[in-house]
Amino acid sequence: MNKIFSGIRPSGKLHLGNYLGAIKNWVELQKSPDTERTVFAVVDYHGITTPFDPKTYHQQVMEAVLDYMAAGVDPEKSILIRQSKVPQHTELAWIFNTITPVSWLDRLPTYKEKIEQTQGKYTHMGILDYPVLMAADILIYKSNLVPVGDDQLPHIDLTNEIARKFNHLFGETFQTVKPHLTEGARVMSLQDPAKKMSKTGDEGIALSDNPEVVREKIKKAVTDSGKEIKYDEDKKPAISNLLTIYQLLSGRTIEEIEKDYEGKTYADFKNDLAEVVVDFLKPFQKKYSELKNNMDYVDKVLTESEEKARVIASSTLKEIKEKIGI
Ligand code: TYM
Repeated sequence: MNKIFSGIRPSGKLHLGNYLGAIKNWVELQKSPDTERTVFAVVDYHGITTPFDPKTYHQQVMEAVLDYMAAGVDPEKSILIRQSKVPQHTELAWIFNTITPVSWLDRLPTYKEKIEQTQGKYTHMGILDYPVLMAADILIYKSNLVPVGDDQLPHIDLTNEIARKFNHLFGETFQTVKPHLTEGARVMSLQDPAKKMSKTGDEGIALSDNPEVVREKIKKAVTDSGKEIKYDEDKKPAISNLLTIYQLLSGRTIEEIEKDYEGKTYADFKNDLAEVVVDFLKPFQKKYSELKNNMDYVDKVLTESEEKARVIASSTLKEIKEKIGI
């Protein structure tokens, strides 16, 4: 039986990449008979490692909660929390800090990327230490399965290194953690298929985008040379990315879609893809606005979930503290 944990930083509007790479799997896993427990977090302490506005941050966190619920995270089946409301995450992160060599952190691609992106401007401890808190998020619930996009794989490896070191130093405590990936594990930018779709910049399709915005963004999406609608990641990265999105949202196979568009133009394909995305977002956005009008219910879900999470997390922390003699 699997114990599942995953999280998303509330550092911008959630986009199709977040949905296809992560949340879609969460929703499936919470229903699986092999699942013992699912905990999904809005990781608000991770979110403050990059620039944010304290005036709007609370609202941003709540919007991420609404996104999770509107996308199908079911409070009857899953524990839905804000990371900062379960302080055991950060307490365990501190303990892990003391057994994690800095050399395990400054070699991570995500760290190097951040430093490059910001020309060294955000070289604070939080950026470096970020994956240790992520390891604590996962291990505080003794989770063994983490549904994420493939950019998070180095962090899962690090989580296992920290778990192994802890087990070695203080006795068997944590089991191995496995990532859970799907075909949507890497949705690329619509403007540059060499980069992944991200929360910053306007190249992503936000789950909250209205039909006009979606149509406009897909119309403007870059395409490849040639005119065939064919999946070929090397020669046609842009069309392959659009085909992946089409496939995952429509439930049809790439072959079926390719066949349908034989002899048709990129413009025909993009027009139809825009409608597939709009149709997919419609029920999501309807649910989102219903929930937004019912914040008492959302608050109640969070309060109950966070209480449940604290019970599990404090039991793990108690065991860990005993093991290290605190
Ligand atoms: P974050 O907030 O960058 O992304 C959240 C999730 O969305 C996936 N994702 C994508 N998948 C496919 N294509 C894309 N273009 C794309 N962009 C993002 C990410 O892989 C991720 O699954 N460190 C994490 C948050 C975190 C976490 C955790 C995750 C903190 N603690 C514990 C799992 C377990 C992060 O920054 O994700």
